[in-house]
Amino acid sequence: MGVATRCLLLELLDVSVSDLLTSGTQGGRPQQGHSMWLVQHCARDILEALAFLHREGYVHADLKPRNILWSADDECFKLIDFGLSFKEGNQDVKYIQTDGYRAPEAELQNSLAQAGVEVEGDSGCTSAVDMWGLGIILLEMFSGMKLKETVRSQKWKENSASIVDHLFASNSVVCPAIPVYHLRDLIKSMLLNNPKQRCSAETALLSPLFSIPFAPHIEDLVLLPTPVLRLLNLIDDSHLHNEEEYEEILEDMKEECQKYGSVVSLLIPKENPGKGQVFVEYANSSDSKEAQRLLTGRTFDGKLVVATFYPLSAYKRDMKSYSDGLTSSRSMSPSSRSSPPAAQINGVLQWLSESPDLYPIERPWCCLKAAIHKSHATNVKNLEQICQEVRNPPNSVPSW
Ligand SMILES: *[C@@H]1O[C@H](CO)[C@@H](O)[C@H](O)[C@H]1NC(C)=O
Repeated sequence: MGVATRCLLLELLDVSVSDLLTSGTQGGRPQQGHSMWLVQHCARDILEALAFLHREGYVHADLKPRNILWSADDECFKLIDFGLSFKEGNQDVKYIQTDGYRAPEAELQNSLAQAGVEVEGDSGCTSAVDMWGLGIILLEMFSGMKLKETVRSQKWKENSASIVDHLFASNSVVCPAIPVYHLRDLIKSMLLNNPKQRCSAETALLSPLFSIPFAPHIEDLVLLPTPVLRLLNLIDDSHLHNEEEYEEILEDMKEECQKYGSVVSLLIPKENPGKGQVFVEYANSSDSKEAQRLLTGRTFDGKLVVATFYPLSAYKRDMKSYSDGLTSSRSMSPSSRSSPPAAQINGVLQWLSESPDLYPIERPWCCLKAAIHKSHATNVKNLEQICQEVRNPPNSVPSW
């Protein structure tokens, strides 16, 4: 009685960038880096967080893959762990950043502190240390390689730019049509040895990289949960044209999907985009995650279900276009969820709206196989076939 208790409630977040980086490593095969969509998404979200933080005069001082987490309900990456953060110009933390992600000036400061050398004046680290850390993270995401040893090498210290060039030139899985050089140049400007020359978060956000509408790879849609589930391989086109059959399928699907969580709405487009796919919006991502886990690998009417997530924002747009009269769909109850900031996703939406489906053009599907395998699918052979179809849709011409 009368004892005051305080507690901190923190948002429950999902997979970390560190989890994502290790998810592609299977049976010792070298990993192949993430899709441009994923790298761009992460870069933008974290740069926005840093721009805010730096504007307020704070330095995060511990950027690393473990400290960047995916928020399934907000569909963005979030920066966590402010344990080493400090106010710029007033650095009260001696040792900052983590091995492998530490800026050269922080490295120097750490070793001076270790040697017991007192440093006077404004020799503290600045927000530029965060830019360095993010630069390394993005390079790891793109290359799929751990760079801890690389950044320790003499070669890196002498000419890091040529190593970055090499990593970009040797990433053979990236389709030649994809303009990756904007990412390369951005990373290089984050990894300049002189902190005064390094680009700021504000400037980085102006990079042309962020105006390219990349599409998510199907693997991204398996790895990053959202409240919307997309079921593939369930419905034959022939069923879509018989109104009675269509209604029956809707009812069946609704009943089945409601077993796993609270369904807000359900959509089965009769035309592209997404023809014959089942989109299920759950009340929240814990419901959709449970549904994805339980539905993947199950058979429905003799067919093996493939369940991926789908961006809620893109789903909302699809829903709207269908309810505007394109074709019939059924909403079980109006959703009150507010959509994410439009500007942030507009590019991707634009791209999606022009695509018959999400073109997974960036990566060989063996990575996807590993991802789907990991998500408890049972029959890989069948999946291979589906993925092959998704990867090479007829008339697939990327639109840039
Ligand atoms: C998700 O929604 C379901 C159904 O509305 C609810 O029972 C559950 O508590 C929610 N979970 C979270 C984590 O909000």
